[in-house]
Amino acid sequence: MDTPRPGRTAGDRQQAAVASDADFVVVANRLPVHLDTSDPDAPRWRRSPGGLVSALDPILRNRRGAWVGWAGTVTGGARPALPEQDIRLHPVPLAEDEYRDYYEGFSNTTLWPLFHDVVVPPDFDQAWWHSYLRVNQRFAQHTAGLAAPGATVWVQDYQLMLVPALLRALRPDVRIGFFLHIPFPPPELFLQLPWRSQIVDGLLGADLIGFQLPGGAQNFLQLVRRLHRGESVGRAPRSSLLGSVLVPGREVRVGAFPISVDTAGLEELARSEAVRERARQIRRQLGEHRRVMLGVDRLDYTKGIDQRLRAFEALLADGRASARDTVLVQIATPSRERVEHYRRQRARIEALVGQINGTFGQVGQVPVHYLHTTVGRSELAALYGAADVMLVTPLRDGMNLVAKEFVAARPDLGGALVLSEFAGAAHELTRALLVNPHHPAELSDVMAAALDQDPAEGRCRMRDLRRHVRERDVHHWARSFLTVLRAGGSGAVPSGSDDSPQAAVVA
Ligand code: ADP
Ligand code: F6P
Repeated sequence: MDTPRPGRTAGDRQQAAVASDADFVVVANRLPVHLDTSDPDAPRWRRSPGGLVSALDPILRNRRGAWVGWAGTVTGGARPALPEQDIRLHPVPLAEDEYRDYYEGFSNTTLWPLFHDVVVPPDFDQAWWHSYLRVNQRFAQHTAGLAAPGATVWVQDYQLMLVPALLRALRPDVRIGFFLHIPFPPPELFLQLPWRSQIVDGLLGADLIGFQLPGGAQNFLQLVRRLHRGESVGRAPRSSLLGSVLVPGREVRVGAFPISVDTAGLEELARSEAVRERARQIRRQLGEHRRVMLGVDRLDYTKGIDQRLRAFEALLADGRASARDTVLVQIATPSRERVEHYRRQRARIEALVGQINGTFGQVGQVPVHYLHTTVGRSELAALYGAADVMLVTPLRDGMNLVAKEFVAARPDLGGALVLSEFAGAAHELTRALLVNPHHPAELSDVMAAALDQDPAEGRCRMRDLRRHVRERDVHHWARSFLTVLRAGGSGAVPSGSDDSPQAAVVA
């Protein structure tokens, strides 16, 4: 099996250091914008989907840093220039076969299901692994050529887990942070991965590895021990830090840094007259007297969209809701559409929507409004403002920013949040109506309770939830990660450590 190896010479390294000038570089699979070529005659830049972009966009805008990522298209030929931004965007190209093998294959058919509790079985494919390795090398090389001497580089998410070690080999002078946006699984699951040691070694190239929850960080530390990377030494947890791994000549710190949203920005948008008017209009269009339930997700099998539709169907069937008094609006962003499990999930959801509307709808009054589309920020804020009940019911989710966005967008203290216990957000938003989405009857009951929630109790819950997302917003997240990253010195450990075992865990 391959070990990640940089494909550059000493000359390339020299060149990279000379050409570079960015002090702060974010490296992520996607740029915050992608080229939409659905109309080949008029390609357009659009905002990229997903929580990672929502979180990092405001951070980089404030710091005027550089962002290294894929521009979302594999087509060749002339491309429109990248749009003017406060952020320097540095596109990394992907060929068609790399999109298939690195992105759809290894990232989203191997790692994504494996890290989400094998909700669907992951596929292991040697050719995909090779592509993942090659693309990670390319990201590391582009970053090495862009970062100023001693720069801070922040690598994001599961698509780029080899980049920390590859980049360190090219540019030992830079400080490297890595943050995983999705759950880190228990060792029993991770160890299924044929390339498990290479992935762990890739991550250990970082100075700081951040996870959403303490449980993910503990899973990683346990895994390092199980893979015999060293011995564990006890140490009291300090702030967000849960432990360290000693590798030859360096200390790799490991911690939990729950991601969040741009609370103030969303609140301002939600308070704007245009958004409030649009929210009123949405309610009028849906039927003023009807209670509005809302789901907003990427169309992903981890998000529990079918479970929530079935739970709503049960409410309609037993009479606790009817198309006359209740409507469920489900907005689903198209996602990873060529991947088999995503195709099946879309077919399942659309069949279910048809079945529910066919059984319980009337002319001019359907119980489910389903939109397979991406909506803009203002429209999203208006939808949040129009909802009586927000349904966030993933089977497993690293954090789930939609839950926090909904809370940020409700300065009126209205609305109830139904939140899966299996979303990372449930560890913080404990005043939401928490639910186990794997339990159909419980899910229906909690949805019914949310519809009937006493308004005074609802306001009280929302006030507590809002206090949390105001204190712990996305700026707090970035600040806490970067402060720990920068406080760590070079990460060097006392001399003599080169003779130590390959790594030691301090936890
Ligand atoms: P993930 O990162 O798995 O997609 P998150 O809930 O953490 O899940 O983040 C999703 C992000 O994408 C949120 O910022 C949300 O507002 C945005 N989003 C999800 N669905 C849509 C949609 N249909 N239109 C616009 N934005 C969406
Ligand atoms: O948060 C998980 C994540 O995979 C991000 O890394 C990504 O930006 C987002 O979801 C959307 O997924 P994709 O980039 O595959 O469309």
